[in-house]
Amino acid sequence: MRTGYAFLVTLSLSLIQSASALFFLKDQWIGDDFFQGWNWETENDPTHGRVNYVSQAEAISKNLTYVEDDVFFMRADDWSFLNSSSRGRDSIRISSVNAYDDALFVLDLRHMPQGCSTWPAFWTLSQAGPWPNGGEIDIIEGVNLNTDNQATLHTTPMCMMPPDTLRHQAGRTITTNCDTSVNFNTGCGVSFPDSKPSYGMPFNIAGGGIFAALKWRFGIQVWFWPRDEAPPEVRDGVVKEEPLFPGFGWGSPAADFPVYPGFCDYDTHFNAHEMVFDLTFCGDWAGNAWAGSGCGGGTCENFVDNNPSAFAEAYWAINSLRVYTPLFPFP
Ligand SMILES: *[C@@H]1O[C@H](CO)[C@@H](O)[C@H](O)[C@H]1NC(C)=O
Ligand SMILES: *[C@@H]1O[C@H](CO)[C@@H](O)[C@H](O)[C@H]1NC(C)=O
Repeated sequence: MRTGYAFLVTLSLSLIQSASALFFLKDQWIGDDFFQGWNWETENDPTHGRVNYVSQAEAISKNLTYVEDDVFFMRADDWSFLNSSSRGRDSIRISSVNAYDDALFVLDLRHMPQGCSTWPAFWTLSQAGPWPNGGEIDIIEGVNLNTDNQATLHTTPMCMMPPDTLRHQAGRTITTNCDTSVNFNTGCGVSFPDSKPSYGMPFNIAGGGIFAALKWRFGIQVWFWPRDEAPPEVRDGVVKEEPLFPGFGWGSPAADFPVYPGFCDYDTHFNAHEMVFDLTFCGDWAGNAWAGSGCGGGTCENFVDNNPSAFAEAYWAINSLRVYTPLFPFP
């Protein structure tokens, strides 16, 4: 049941939102566009995965990154058996050169990496950092054979999510403390509703879908739609001169992270974010969840080393990525 207080907060927030929410297309990537404005990162995986992130040149020469019919692909090696003393399975991690304050990120995704040992993510983090200063927003994330997407915030201390009566979301709250230094950095996460194929095999069988993440001082919200259910301005994009009103007429987001004073102050915990796509294997989440994942016996690392063909579906296929920003920055 919604309390009177919640109703008033919602009402005043939506008034502020509709009054000031004019967003315009800032950056757009389709097909070959992704070869500009993104860095291919080659460092050791900070989440301890059994992965070998390769450079752009190596990714192109091994055909792990390519464009086909204007769709941008990033995949894992699905042919090599690995020596257990190697760094891990070849895969890709890219981060955007640009960072954004208030922004709406719209990703039209045809296919996401799926399968045992995989841990893909599309997320944003503070470019200034150092992590966790300035915050992290996980928009797409999951492991192994999961079928529901999870969206999660990771922040410095003193950022809590309010009770569910103050959140307007279709998904299910998992945890409410966003502080990275508690609960083994679980963050404050929301599991997307089962009624829509937001992750893994069901998502890919459906031909993918569209994620929209709004990050601004009135809250952080993530929507997901199968492509034919998405609002037209989200599905088709809008031209540069045309305004877009994020959230207006979009229905409940799957995940709602309000940033009410007293629970989580936006300016204290968030600043300009860059975007990241990565695909790791095992590590802090997929590896720790391996035993209960339904992926069979043995260790996760052994599975990665000895089953190259299991990675045939371990790829991103991106139709488009668009970032919208307000005409004027908010005060
Ligand atoms: C890269 O892989 C894709 C998908 O398997 C294939 O269609 C394409 O021809 C390959 N490109 C090269 C240069 O081998
Ligand atoms: C694995 O790599 C180590 C170190 O490079 C090497 O000594 C060993 O012979 C390799 N094992 C196999 C099976 O290739």
